[in-house]
Amino acid sequence: MDHIALDEQARAILRGNDRGGYTVPTAGLYPYQWNWDSAFAAWGFSTFDVDRAWTEIETLLSGQWEDGMVPHILFHQDDPGYFPGPGVWGTGRTPATSGISQPPVAATLARRIYEADPETGRDRLRAVFPKLLAWHRWWRAHRCPTGVAAITHPWESGRDNCPDWDPGMKNVDGSNVGDYTRRDTGHVDPSMRPGKEDYDRYLAILQFGRECGWDQEVIVRDGPFLMADPAMTFILLRAHRDLAALARELGESDAELMGWAADLEAALPTIWNEDLSCYDARDLRTGEFAGVLGSGAFLAWYARVENPEMERRLIAVWNRVRFGIPSSDPAAPSFAPRRYWRGPTWPVVNSLIAMGFSGMGREAEAERLRRETVALIEAGGFYEYFDPMDGTACGGRDFSWTAAIWLAWASPSAGRD
Ligand code: DGY
Repeated sequence: MDHIALDEQARAILRGNDRGGYTVPTAGLYPYQWNWDSAFAAWGFSTFDVDRAWTEIETLLSGQWEDGMVPHILFHQDDPGYFPGPGVWGTGRTPATSGISQPPVAATLARRIYEADPETGRDRLRAVFPKLLAWHRWWRAHRCPTGVAAITHPWESGRDNCPDWDPGMKNVDGSNVGDYTRRDTGHVDPSMRPGKEDYDRYLAILQFGRECGWDQEVIVRDGPFLMADPAMTFILLRAHRDLAALARELGESDAELMGWAADLEAALPTIWNEDLSCYDARDLRTGEFAGVLGSGAFLAWYARVENPEMERRLIAVWNRVRFGIPSSDPAAPSFAPRRYWRGPTWPVVNSLIAMGFSGMGREAEAERLRRETVALIEAGGFYEYFDPMDGTACGGRDFSWTAAIWLAWASPSAGRD
């Protein structure tokens, strides 16, 4: 299929997943509004309907808590096809939401959307800016206990079952969560999803949060899981800077945001794993490093962080696969090329990594990553993710964020930096 037809198909996917002001990641498997999925959907919409793009961001921010958190799921309407639904989270909010957050890519993508059309975006940006700022303040207050960004649940990272979380997950007791029925495995091949032991632990962490009334202080201090996340740290670092640029554009002060960015950067040595020569996930309860390279480490460039040692290691990992950046190193024993975040390549993450390459003037790598991502989508369609070895399309189909990054970055007709 030529790229014009694929552009058309990508727009149809976003329109088809539009539920009225918000976009579901894919019908069936993910029937609600997910936080970072939604920010990507907005970026995709902005290529053909800027007004709809801003609406997506506004709807996402309508779920913001009083403390500033923007939750990872907004349950706009009940759907028995998804587990765990609003009743399990029990946050008691309207709209119903989950009790954790997700990678804050919204400010970075809002900046792209704004800069492509400042005239249409100015008032919309002015209205959402204080909410984005409050969310960034929440990250600083509730998710940076040692300086870098940490997650309290693997779902908060958006990279649910990647080997990065294995050190923290092994200490979570999932044996008392009671009976439950998963729905995800009814929608896609179970061998591509996290396992039952993972789910038991996911639920144990969720139950801790519900039982303490989603008190973020208690969750960070006493919760069963707390890990420093390099991907989240790089995403937040860039997001602070992008929101600071938007602050300047609006005539607001950028001082607070630039201060948070400087503090995050200064804390980076705490997640530098000497044995790996890379930034690495670290269990904040035990100090243990994950010891496995993955796409999180590749996001360093996205935050304008680089050094030659790290670069050699990362490019060697990339060279072990045929398509895209693998979510985890193929040389590691934990590598599973089709099991969700334990090896597959994700077009959406590739788009962020490429943004990092471009921003650092590394056009050859940015272009290689784009071409490899294009090859996957041309052959397999707009799937959630792909086997990085043979290109097999995996997970959910007609996926919003794959369609979105096609339109905004991968397609030959996309406007790139
Ligand atoms: C899921 O249900 O698989 C999600 O990733 C949780 O956000």
